[in-house]
Amino acid sequence: MPVIRVKGRASGTTRTIEVPESDLDELLLFWLRKNGVTIASSCDGEGVCKRCEIQNGWLTCQMTVGLLLRRSPAGEVEVSYL
Ligand code: FES
Repeated sequence: MPVIRVKGRASGTTRTIEVPESDLDELLLFWLRKNGVTIASSCDGEGVCKRCEIQNGWLTCQMTVGLLLRRSPAGEVEVSYL
């Protein structure tokens, strides 16, 4: 089973979350929140506020979990808060 490793930029804390095959098409923003990771947003996924940005300028509201794993095979996500 693939995993996503969420790293807090400020704390350096890392959390590993397993990704069931059935979750690969979920939007990363909502999947992270579902798994207890706080992601800021003021446009509720419209792609305009940029508050949900992770590394490389990627927006969690504009990519699925599966796309993240294709772009970052190690499954790394850097967030502001963890
Ligand atoms: S939630 Fe606003 S740009 Fe992603």
